Amino acid sequence: MAEQQKDDEILGKAYDSKIMRRLLTYVKPYKKYVVMAIIMNIIVAALPAVRPLLSKIALDTYIANKDYNGLLMISMIVLAVLILQAVVQYYLTYYSEYMGQKIVYDLRVQIFKHVQKLALRYFDKTPVGRTVTRVTNDVDSLNEMFSSGIVQVFSDVFVIIWIYVFMFGMAWDLALVVLLVMPFLIYATMVFRKKVRETYRDVRKHLANLNSYMQEHVTGMNIVQIFAKEKDELEKFSAINGEYRAANIKSVFYYAVFFPVVELLSAITFGLIIWYGGGEVIQSKLTLGVLIAFFQYTEMFWRPVRDLSEKYNVLQQAMASSERIFKLLDDETFIPDAENPVKLEKVKGEIEFKNVWFAYNPGEYVLKNVSFDIKPGETIAIVGATGAGKTSLINILTRFYDIEKGSITLDGIDIRQLEKRDLRKYISMVLQDVFLFSGNIKTNINLGNDEITDAQIIEAAKTVGADKFISKLPNKYEEEVKEKGATLSVGQRQLISFARALAYNPQILILDEATSSVDTETEILIQEAIQKLLVGRTSIVIAHRLSTIQNANKILVMHKGELKEMGTHQELLAKKGIYYRLYQLQYKDQEVVRTV
Ligand code: UTP
Ligand code: MG
Repeated sequence: MAEQQKDDEILGKAYDSKIMRRLLTYVKPYKKYVVMAIIMNIIVAALPAVRPLLSKIALDTYIANKDYNGLLMISMIVLAVLILQAVVQYYLTYYSEYMGQKIVYDLRVQIFKHVQKLALRYFDKTPVGRTVTRVTNDVDSLNEMFSSGIVQVFSDVFVIIWIYVFMFGMAWDLALVVLLVMPFLIYATMVFRKKVRETYRDVRKHLANLNSYMQEHVTGMNIVQIFAKEKDELEKFSAINGEYRAANIKSVFYYAVFFPVVELLSAITFGLIIWYGGGEVIQSKLTLGVLIAFFQYTEMFWRPVRDLSEKYNVLQQAMASSERIFKLLDDETFIPDAENPVKLEKVKGEIEFKNVWFAYNPGEYVLKNVSFDIKPGETIAIVGATGAGKTSLINILTRFYDIEKGSITLDGIDIRQLEKRDLRKYISMVLQDVFLFSGNIKTNINLGNDEITDAQIIEAAKTVGADKFISKLPNKYEEEVKEKGATLSVGQRQLISFARALAYNPQILILDEATSSVDTETEILIQEAIQKLLVGRTSIVIAHRLSTIQNANKILVMHKGELKEMGTHQELLAKKGIYYRLYQLQYKDQEVVRTV
């Protein structure tokens, strides 16, 4: 969490040419829209600047000469300019928003694709929230930059340029006087920007604190309530909430100062125009129309300046977001596929581990020199204390992780020579923790694979004995699964995952039996289900249930990452080694219960 915060708070430059160049590659497919947006920007920025010019003409030429027709004509032109401005503004807003959405859509797809390819090692070291934030918040801030940020910056800059062009065109000396205020304005804006940036970072930090505190407490509400911790927790919450409030108030303060300062500068400019311009009018060096046009220009001038300082933040955030997104996209923690993968036409299901060494963290081996083989159709059981390396053995067979030394072969071919997709197609897995997706029972069994028909789903469920409870649900196979299956019992969830494994009818079946206890009836159901699952396939079972172990062709006994013993139940018992002791401790009682 702390690291995530640090990462999420990086606010660097508002413009980084390297990042910008990379961002532009996303804009490339929409070049047409960019060109259109720029042209429309130039127009939309110039149109308001035309109005004071028109009013000057109205005053100096038509009103001064009492020309009604001319006055009517100029009014019509003003109206036309206004309508044109509204129309162009509409297209500009629509197309820049449209382009922004297209770009961030592409980006989201790209990030999602990339995340799917990442190896489990990435997910081991990265908090979930961080990956999620890349697709949501970070992409959103890019959207803001693409759709309004950049466009707005362009039009603001153009508005300022146009205003000066027109002012200098009308009276260059008065334009210079107005320009005098510029340095002060730029200075004030810079100070404001810096302060706002600092306080903004503070606000984000405290908001993150508030969020994570709230999240933890909603999740752990039962613990809070049972230990009557409400009052203490409320005090802690109030403190965090107070810090957040203080940070917010501080950031509001700078806004409250900045805007009056801008007002003040604009009043000074107003005064300068009256003093200098008015003097020139008296001396007949300047017409009244020009003076009034200048008032209008200076009025127009402040909005884009203020906007620009706000857009600076948008740009800055977008740059920081892009940096984080690109960091994720550049993370190549992949499990590589072979360049010329071998295709297996038909899989027999013969597996061999040869002197396999494996570590999650470099140097810390959790599997040491493990060798064994499984003949097609055999069932082997893996037993061992918690942390012995059982789950790790199957993690490397499915290539969730790659091994350091040695080799694993399927039908005599190194699994690194096969395509991951193919390899995993041959294997079904039932894991220790059952994971159900939101959807319904059916989609949780076929995982959205339409090749698995309804009939096959029901048959799989019947075979493993899940059909019984499913058909009692109000909507049967269409019953909604919510919150990772919170409305189902642990045993029911397991049966669903068995049905899932069976529906895919794999050559190789891997079962990481859950240790969690279920009621006796479900236990029997599960045992029967397992026996049915094992028939006719190569199976590896991390076994906690006695029946599974006794029926296995071979039992592997893992101990601290090493394969210590191997043989059938009877052979291993006779050996009086680790298995014998484990059996005495762990399985003896089960047998008593079962035989009763
Ligand atoms: P395993 O996960 O292979 O143990 O971890 P196990 O035999 O299946 O244990 P139970 O019965 O399910 O509890 C083997 C070793 O690998 C480390 C663990 O700390 C353990 O010491 N490990 C596991 C990691 O370092 N990283 C992981 O992601 C998983
Ligand atoms: Mg395990």
